[in-house]
This record gives sequence, structure tokens and C-alpha cells, in this order.
Amino acid sequence: MEQRTLLLGVTGSIAAYKAVEIARDLERRGVHVRVLMTEAATRFIAPLTFEALLKRPVTTSLWESRQSGPIPHIALSESADALLVAPASADIIAKLAGGMADDIVSCTALAFNGPLLVAPAMHANMYEHVATQANLATLRGRGAVIIGPETGELASGGHGAGRMSEPATIVGWTMKTLGRKGDFAGRTVVVTAGGTQEPIDPVRCVTNHSSGKMGYAIAEACRDRGADVILVTAPTGLQPPVGVETVNVVTAQQMYEATRAAVREAHALIMAAAVADYRPSNPAADKIKKERETLVIPLERTVDILKSIEGDFIRVGFAAESSSLEHNARAKLAEKHLDLIAANDITASDAGFGSDNNRVTIMDRDGGIDRLPLLSKREVADRLLDRVAKLLS
Ligand code: PMT
Repeated sequence: MEQRTLLLGVTGSIAAYKAVEIARDLERRGVHVRVLMTEAATRFIAPLTFEALLKRPVTTSLWESRQSGPIPHIALSESADALLVAPASADIIAKLAGGMADDIVSCTALAFNGPLLVAPAMHANMYEHVATQANLATLRGRGAVIIGPETGELASGGHGAGRMSEPATIVGWTMKTLGRKGDFAGRTVVVTAGGTQEPIDPVRCVTNHSSGKMGYAIAEACRDRGADVILVTAPTGLQPPVGVETVNVVTAQQMYEATRAAVREAHALIMAAAVADYRPSNPAADKIKKERETLVIPLERTVDILKSIEGDFIRVGFAAESSSLEHNARAKLAEKHLDLIAANDITASDAGFGSDNNRVTIMDRDGGIDRLPLLSKREVADRLLDRVAKLLS
């Protein structure tokens, strides 16, 4: 994908140090970050911190020498795909709402006509003040994305609304905004993730080792490429990606129902979930007592979600195999009427369940086969989406 440029406006707040993490995370995700700081922001954190990390200058003033270069705020505003103000003080929010332009952040914002994201950070009294609320409503009305703030411990020692949202949340919304014109713009993708849990009794279940990482990486990659994403997820220990509609389920039957409802408007279904093939036939209403030496639990087949859901969308499955990887995956591709299948060897110690990485072989219905090397799950997701994008176009 084309590299996107983000203007990161940092203003005067104790949360300014968190902007470093935001800048670094965005750069890691391939975004070109240009930092602008108000004079107040430089009292909380030095421009040198960003310069050392990003290896490029930070703009702190409207009055930098113009002998050899263009006017800073105009040049910056013309170069960017989005402007994020984080942290955004009450003062900058008022300036943005009122169209004032007397520092590098407000001037650049006024000259910039792309998407604006604002992450407020201030004391609860300032945040709740009618003036700040009116200013935020004005910005929202103009289409700005207001991220947070959160309620919690404040720098003053008190408790209330005004804490800047966590960097991961701000990065998530920024990636969604930057991706709005990506190759999945206007597409809805349903992604499933995690291992379903089939109850044995109220405290025990039949499940598997899926962590959800593969499915969540696909959901995030779809979001970053402009898709509207519905993530149908079995229980995991992961935070759902921001900017993605998340539907929580537990059992295979619930995943089937949620997925069937979600695909109604979808252009693609990508099933990375490890769905139980069998479930206890008669889950006990009470906790089973430890009375017998052995216990036999009768199991019955669950619904095959991929095979049962009908509709006119691209269908992508995963095959989790412990032997005859390509042979078994090709059989599943045919049996489940898939367009693509990503086969992974779940006995590999460096990939598959729980790992941050995966090594998949992508197969298509025309006999095409693409054996990918060990990649991060996010890279696997993007390689898979490249194939889905081709099918969609
Ligand atoms: O979650 P992680 O820890 O990141 O691990 C990732 C993963 C190993 C779980 C993932 O990469 C993966 O392989 N997911 C599919 C696991 C699986 O259930 O494979 P399967 O070969 O049993 O099923 C084939 C396909 O049919 C899968 O797309 C599955 O979602 C789907 N299926 C399976 C059973 C069922 N009842 N209904 C289904 O739709």
C-alpha cells in the first residue's frame, strides 16, 4: 500500500509523553509521521525526543527560517493524509473550533482540509465545561473524530473524565482513518476468530488452543485497508481492534448464527476461527461430581459454518493440519466451496496456535498455490487480503 503521511500535533498536556508511543507505533505500521508541537507542548517533552526516534525534524514554530523552504504550516498541510492532535488541550480544541490560527498546530489545522482526529486530555472540570463540550460538538459536527477521553485518575490526583485515551486506541482510530481510501474501501468483511467453547457442565468446556491472534490480525488489516469489519469472536484474551464491530460468541452454534447474520451485507467471509467439530450432546445442568473413576462424555457434530452459510461473497477458510497439509487443505477447499484456503501446520513450534507468527500456504480453486515463509500474523493477513482484493475486483 502507498505510504500515508500523518501530521501529529502535540499540545500542552501532561499526556504529551504518550504521543511518543503513538508516533513510534504509527511509524512501525508504515505511516510517515510529521510532528508539530506547540510551545506549551515543548514544556512537557522535548522535540529532540521525537527527532531522535523518527530521525526527522519537528516543527515547533510558525517563524522558522523561510529563506530556503516553503511556509511551514502550508507545506505541512499540503503533505498529509490526516491530522491527529494528541494530546489535545482545551485551548487547542477551542482554537480548532473557532478557526483561530496563532501557533503551528492551529495554523496547520486551519490550512488542512483532510480528516482531523482529536484526542482530548485535560482536567475533568475543563473537559466538562460547557465551552469545551460545545467546541467538541462543533468539531464532531464538522466530521472530526474525537477519541475519548477516558475516565480515570487525573494528573491533579483527582478522578474523572479527561484522561487521554491509551496510545493503542488512538493508533487504531488513526489507522482506520488513514485507510479509508484503501483497496477495501466500501467493502464489508466478516472475520471469525478464536476457539469456540462447548459446555460440558456450567464450569467445564471442550475447546482448543486458538488465541484469536490470526483472526484479530486479519480484522485489523481489513480495517487499515478501508473495510467495514465485523469480527465474530469466540472468547480470547485479546482487546478487539478499535473501529471494528465486534460480536462476542462462545459456542459453534452461536458463531454460526452470528456469522450468518453478519454476512448478509458482506463482500467476503474469512474464517480464521478454530470451530469445535464436536460438542457434548447433553451438557450437565450442574457441575459434574468427581464420583467415578472414568467419565465418558458423548459428543455430537456441530454445524459446519463455512459449509452451511450461503450467499454471494468471497469465502476464505483456514485449514489447521497436523499431517498431509496441502492434500487435506485442498480437500477442505473443495468440500466447503471456498475461493481460498490458508493452510497452516499446527504442529510447528514457531507458528500456528498462540504464536505471533504463522507460516501458511494459500491455495485457490484453480489449483494455484502460494507457499509463504514464516511471517508475522499481520503480514500473513495482508498477503491473504492481497488475494481477496484481487478476487473482489
Ligand atoms: O488463533 P491463533 O492462536 O492465532 O491460531 C490461528 C489458527 C491456527 C487457529 C488459524 O490459523 C487456523 O488455522 N484457523 C482454522 C482452524 C480450524 O478450525 O481449522 P479446520 O481445518 O478444522 O477447519 C477448516 C475451516 O472450516 C476453518 O476455516 C474453520 O473456521 C471452518 N470450520 C470448521 C469447523 C466448523 N464446524 N465450521 C467451520 O466453519
